[in-house]
Amino acid sequence: MIKKYPKVLIGEICYLTPVSSEFIDKYYLWINDPEVTNTLIINPPMILEQEEKWFELLISRKNTYLFNIMTNDNKIIGNTGMHNINSVDRNADFGIMIGEKDYWGKGYGTEVTKLMLIYGFYHLNLHSIYLNVYSYNKKGIRAYEKAGYKQDGVIRQNKFYKGVYKDTILMSVIRDEWEVPDTLSKLNLLDR
Ligand SMILES: CC(C)(COP(=O)(O)OP(=O)(O)OC[C@H]1O[C@@H](n2cnc3c(N)ncnc32)[C@H](O)[C@@H]1OP(=O)(O)O)[C@@H](O)C(=O)NCCC(=O)NCCS
Repeated sequence: MIKKYPKVLIGEICYLTPVSSEFIDKYYLWINDPEVTNTLIINPPMILEQEEKWFELLISRKNTYLFNIMTNDNKIIGNTGMHNINSVDRNADFGIMIGEKDYWGKGYGTEVTKLMLIYGFYHLNLHSIYLNVYSYNKKGIRAYEKAGYKQDGVIRQNKFYKGVYKDTILMSVIRDEWEVPDTLSKLNLLDR
């Protein structure tokens, strides 16, 4: 029997479902793959017990919402989340990791980023959503721009990558400047 997962947010090529310890082995593999973590703040190796503790900590946080990224044929390919949700300033920090590398460059990152903007603005009632991305993460920057993020600034040379200091780009979307993408507004997401 094929297991069904609740679809909290539905896109055209993927959907988001709440994270679950069922997939901890996947997270563990991804988080120990340097190609995946090169563009993340995490530095592998991370042992399984650390990953389990990290997961427990994250799901216990009241100011964090985490989702698995599922393809339309129910394969888990990554996770995403809103972190540090601040209910006074109404902002949050967006994060995403597509751990299955075969799925990079196929539009999933862009779609998930768009879905999470809808989630942040229409469900969490945020005013702004921000992220940090390393300057060499060209796929990430492009995906975020396509979803509506704008560059706010640069932190110079604060990342040591392959022997060279690299910049971090700060990006954000302000609710008033953001337009609901045409493709997503057709999906009835706003009526849910
Ligand atoms: C970063 C990440 C979320 C992007 O998701 P993705 O599904 O691979 O990205 P998409 O396919 O939606 O979009 C990538 C875009 O970057 C473009 N791109 C790829 N390589 C590029 C390069 N070297 N220079 C410029 N653009 C590039 C692609 O052509 C595509 O744009 P297009 O659709 O206009 O052609 C994903 O690769 C990932 O999770 N990587 C590992 C972890 C990570 O970096 N997380 C984010 C940390 S901030």
